[in-house]
Amino acid sequence: MIELTVDGRAVVVHDEDASLLDVVREQVGCRSVKDGCSPQGQCGCCTVLVDGAPRVSCVTPARRVHGRAITTTEGLDPAVAARWAAAFVDAGASQCGFCTPGIVLRLAALADRRAVVDEAAIRTALGAHLCRCTGWQSIVAAAARVLGTAGPAGDEPVQDAAVGAAPDRDPLFVQWRAQLEGPAFQVSDAAVVLGAGGFADDTAPVGALVALADADGAYAVGGDLPAARRQSAKVQGRRSTLGLRHPLAVPDGDWAVRLATTWVEPAYLEPDASWCLPGGRAASPLANGGAFGGKRASPVGDEARRLADEHDRAVRALWSRERVVRAGPKRPPVAAGVRADGTGVLRVATTPGAADLQPWVARVAETAPGLEVEVVTVDGPPVAPWLRATGWAEAAVLLAGARCAAAGTVGPGTPVEVTSPAGGRARVVVAADGSVEAAVWAGEALDPVTLRSYCFGAIHQALGWVWSEGLSVDDAGVVQDLTIRSFGILTARETPEMDVVLHSDDTWPVNGSDAVFAATAAAAWVAGGLAPTWPTGRPERTAR
Ligand code: FES
Ligand code: FES
Repeated sequence: MIELTVDGRAVVVHDEDASLLDVVREQVGCRSVKDGCSPQGQCGCCTVLVDGAPRVSCVTPARRVHGRAITTTEGLDPAVAARWAAAFVDAGASQCGFCTPGIVLRLAALADRRAVVDEAAIRTALGAHLCRCTGWQSIVAAAARVLGTAGPAGDEPVQDAAVGAAPDRDPLFVQWRAQLEGPAFQVSDAAVVLGAGGFADDTAPVGALVALADADGAYAVGGDLPAARRQSAKVQGRRSTLGLRHPLAVPDGDWAVRLATTWVEPAYLEPDASWCLPGGRAASPLANGGAFGGKRASPVGDEARRLADEHDRAVRALWSRERVVRAGPKRPPVAAGVRADGTGVLRVATTPGAADLQPWVARVAETAPGLEVEVVTVDGPPVAPWLRATGWAEAAVLLAGARCAAAGTVGPGTPVEVTSPAGGRARVVVAADGSVEAAVWAGEALDPVTLRSYCFGAIHQALGWVWSEGLSVDDAGVVQDLTIRSFGILTARETPEMDVVLHSDDTWPVNGSDAVFAATAAAAWVAGGLAPTWPTGRPERTAR
């Protein structure tokens, strides 16, 4: 038995070689502590404070902290918790909210331990975390406001960091804007920041069986999560030394631009999860966000229902991070050659058993009617046609690149403008040091904080797509990169400065961040000289 104090309460828990994460979440019941990648120790979602110092709990054996004081967001001083929650809400620093409680704890500890905290210290502290939604800038802004230091350039506080009084924002407009951008229902309030985002695995009934899917999709079922873990086949997360492959060749031709991309992981932080009662309706894995389309067709709900019926008990169905990587949908690789007049050939990879790419092809035809699309079957992880800006972003990038090549305006500082099929418009410039300026037109902003947050996130995702992201897949089509750090997501320090200017008008609100995503990818590609393969590598001066 292990004795701990958790959020001020003395508890005695079973050792069973359990991690601190499993003890706190499963035995003590603190659901604000999230499991994004355990036992990889790479996402930071499971961060707790041990005697006031941040610790990644999924790689901390519980017995090592015997007798110590554990603090989660549920046990923070209420005034401190309220201050951080308000800062995050005011800055739009939390979208799905899955990464947020761990980040809040890390930053709160930073505030306690360092007399002087500047932006660099904040970004360094965030190095232990990943966030897929926000692009870091709004998180750094929230931290700067609480810590009383200068925030990122371009930060426009809705109100001063005397955080506490909520700015004049309409929650319905916040949700409406999030739903346009997500696209999924989303709440961004103090409760979400502190860990009550309503994620499927947080709402499961106590005593439910736990079914954990390994990398190959086999479920190990146990009376609780540690038991399921013990039975689960160990295909531990790993970062492969295998290089990235570009499975499609650019067709022969006299092209103004050529481009080949590889598989890209959506990399949402909350692994697919659901629970179900026998004969019941499964909890939605979409929870508080749509993972930018990544979970739209997740089978985990059906799997929870099947397992619940099979065992005649409530069952929590959880995918390990390795399972998400192997079976979750990827952005399909492309290879294209495009002439200056916008005609050309765009090849897109599909994989055996993957979803029909027809919606992807249709979006390309709408955006770039001069491109002939060839769908080519290759071995690889499943691809999907419903990920962010599906198909049309690739088409818009290629057209913008061909235009710039023809005009001789290739290089840093070239503005690229893109209009999405939804009618959102963005003009983006990427400078030599990687910093980004974006102007956005998306009808009535509804809630500028939310729209800007999504635009920052879109810039971050687009820069990752062009510069650093990809999955290594072997010749048999099996994904070899199985850790969440191996996908090339830009860290807080690697993410350059961003400035987003919103042009709100009185027209009907439309999605704006997807236009920002496509325009940023195009502008980064143009700024880097239209390299023929992605990822291209980061400009040297982006780290800070
Ligand atoms: S769950 Fe522990 S670091 Fe990801
Ligand atoms: S808010 Fe950070 S991962 Fe969604």
